[in-house]
Amino acid sequence: MCPRHAGAWNMLMAAVCMALLGCLQAQELQGHVSVILLGATGDLARKYLWQGLFQLYLEEAGKSHSFRFHGTALTSTKQGQEVIAKVLESLSCPRDTAPGRCAELKAQFQQLSEYRRLKTPEDYLALSEDIEARVQREGLQEAGRIFYFSVPPFAYAEIARSINSSCRPGPGAWLRVVLEKPFGRDHRSAQQLATELGSFFQEEEMYRVDHYLGKQVVAQILPFRDQNRKALDGLWSRHRVERVEIVMKETVDAEGRTSFYEEYGVIGDVLQNHLTEILMLVAMELPLNISSSEAVLGHKLQAFRALRGLQRGSAVVGQYQAYRGQVRRELQKPDSFHSLTPTFAGILVHIDNLRWEGVPFILMSGKALDERVGYVRILFKDQAYCAQSEKRWVPAQSHCLPQQIIFYIGHGELGGPAVLVSRNLFRPSLPSAGWKEVEGQPGLRLFGRPLSDYYAYSPVREQDAYSILISHIFHRRKDSFITMDNLLASWVFWTPLLDSLAHEVPRLYPGGAENGHLLDFEFSGSHLSFSQPPLEQLVPGLDSAPMPSDFQVLRAKYRDSPLISAWPEELIARLAGDIEAAAVQAVRRFGQFHLALSGGSSPVALFQQLATGHYGFPWAHTHLWLVDERCVPLWDPESNFQGLQAHLLQHVRVPHYNVHPMPVRRRQRLCAEEDQGAQAYAEEISTLVTNGSFDLVLLGMGTDGHTASLFPQSPVGLDGKQLVVLTTSPSGPHRRMSLSLPAINRARKVAVLVMGRMKREIAMLVSRVGREPKKWPISGVLPDSGQLVWYMDYDAFLG
Ligand code: BG6
Repeated sequence: MCPRHAGAWNMLMAAVCMALLGCLQAQELQGHVSVILLGATGDLARKYLWQGLFQLYLEEAGKSHSFRFHGTALTSTKQGQEVIAKVLESLSCPRDTAPGRCAELKAQFQQLSEYRRLKTPEDYLALSEDIEARVQREGLQEAGRIFYFSVPPFAYAEIARSINSSCRPGPGAWLRVVLEKPFGRDHRSAQQLATELGSFFQEEEMYRVDHYLGKQVVAQILPFRDQNRKALDGLWSRHRVERVEIVMKETVDAEGRTSFYEEYGVIGDVLQNHLTEILMLVAMELPLNISSSEAVLGHKLQAFRALRGLQRGSAVVGQYQAYRGQVRRELQKPDSFHSLTPTFAGILVHIDNLRWEGVPFILMSGKALDERVGYVRILFKDQAYCAQSEKRWVPAQSHCLPQQIIFYIGHGELGGPAVLVSRNLFRPSLPSAGWKEVEGQPGLRLFGRPLSDYYAYSPVREQDAYSILISHIFHRRKDSFITMDNLLASWVFWTPLLDSLAHEVPRLYPGGAENGHLLDFEFSGSHLSFSQPPLEQLVPGLDSAPMPSDFQVLRAKYRDSPLISAWPEELIARLAGDIEAAAVQAVRRFGQFHLALSGGSSPVALFQQLATGHYGFPWAHTHLWLVDERCVPLWDPESNFQGLQAHLLQHVRVPHYNVHPMPVRRRQRLCAEEDQGAQAYAEEISTLVTNGSFDLVLLGMGTDGHTASLFPQSPVGLDGKQLVVLTTSPSGPHRRMSLSLPAINRARKVAVLVMGRMKREIAMLVSRVGREPKKWPISGVLPDSGQLVWYMDYDAFLG
């Protein structure tokens, strides 16, 4: 270009640049965003979050927003500044950024980032005032503030209070708070935390991070299912799936984090969140529109409801040998200290719905294992017989070779994320823009087959999960975050298992490759167990600790009747066995068995046990009755019949005409006296059950001494001739229908199942009182000529 032309060109460019800058300036005026990273000098922030924020800046610089990044912590200003300066220096750009451009943007980002100490409410106020002053000074308008909580959960409430009272942006600007797990330790604490945070922030302001949802392959599960609907239609169900494995293995241990680990263990750290989220993405029904977050959440919650409850036998747990020493050192515990915290867990999950019934989902995670790898493996049933000899099998065609789909989350032999589909299944479709075929790696075998046996795709550009999630937060894409309903549903599922494992002694393992086959496990029905007996030399000193299995079933007397006490699992097994024996005997003698069952949570494990472990049960000759019912439609989740349906009826073959739900809904009304539902049920009993005498009635006992739906201080149903009555419960739903005490006492056998520490107090009290049904209806249970047996677990009986 000649110099004259060059001069004109430069002027033109300058004019264009000015105009563009003006444009940008005008756009910037629309939105200044402050990102406040709390815990900015901590591990997570140093490793991932600053890089994620830089990535956001790289993507957004020069677009419609201006930014400032405030790293904050409790550390002194000088110390904090030093740490942050080092972190900022280490930031890197994606490989495809030109070095000059990278240096320029990095310098800008460093300029826009600062450290400040944030401790007192006054500090928050000062921060807010500084933001406002800067916005005014620079002629900007505030778009919003992002507070990223990279701090331990005990600090959440205090920080939330300070943000809410002193650091919310003014009207017209948004607030987003980003929360890192753990969100509680069980259902109760999660609920408590949710309520606490809910008093400071709106649900839509909160972004609960599960960084696995930002992993590229995990984020691809639903789109993969969506884009390959046609091919997967006939494959994605119990008819074709043999089993599903959801695995996250780690080589690192918990050193340096034992105070956290002691509270959460591997189940709270990884299974309750990362692996459960993945399980849902695989198992949920696929919404028509997967970009609708409401639809996705709705389907997810439905899948949560179909999960079969976990029991102690659904899990195997382990602990690497060095863990105990690390805990003693880091938490200053004496040498006698033993930790029961699992650092390894294998869990068998079943989903009781039409799609997945009977398919084992294996969830597994652990520290100090032989390799670092994460994957979901869907293995299909081998239904083929191949007439040709094996040497003639062609991988792309032979149906006798394994058929699998693998969402390879990362690390492992493959070294990065990928989606693999056996060539003998179908050629999958993945978004061509973001995914490319994996290059062959001679000699590499995955899940028993050479890599060449799979269609294999990996992301064109590998991105870190946190960078992806930070970008989603900025763009208000809430679908990659955990809603409160989702969180609580997950805790509802995991809490009972955590409770039942509280006293379980984990198997010790040496760590790394030396684990050998020690942690291999196998399953049968709903039960999981280690394949090998423990190595004696690996469990020093444990012989002194009593094992739950040391306590066998205990027999005693309670209120002058036989009492059977045991740990919950043995107790339930015993009760189920007794019910089956009663059923077999009744059918042999009378041709039928009339069983009246209670609702609520205690019998759920019993129903599950009956559903899965009792093939000799004479269901075809069993009549099922309800002891009581809530006055809600039978399809309502609160209905006792629903519980029976979900946990027992749908798994056993009881003829429909032998099932007798209580008629709580007649003429479109619930439990109206004039509809005479109670009388109708009584008539049905009188017609079908000889002398109105059930073969077995299963009862529970409430903490107030109620049984069935007969409540203290309510005179209804305690005596008289009525077999069925309408009653009032002190807790909702208030209206109930119930067998009366006389109807219960006509039974040949009454079993009362009492479980959990919460029942301890009432169990003690009732053991001492006489027959006072008005005060404690349970005390009025004493069959006229039948037998009464109490089944109490150790928590209820021994406390
Ligand atoms: C975290 C857990 O959520 O996930 C850690 O707290 C675990 O214990 C980590 O090591 C694993 O994440 P990633 O991304 O390294 O697989």
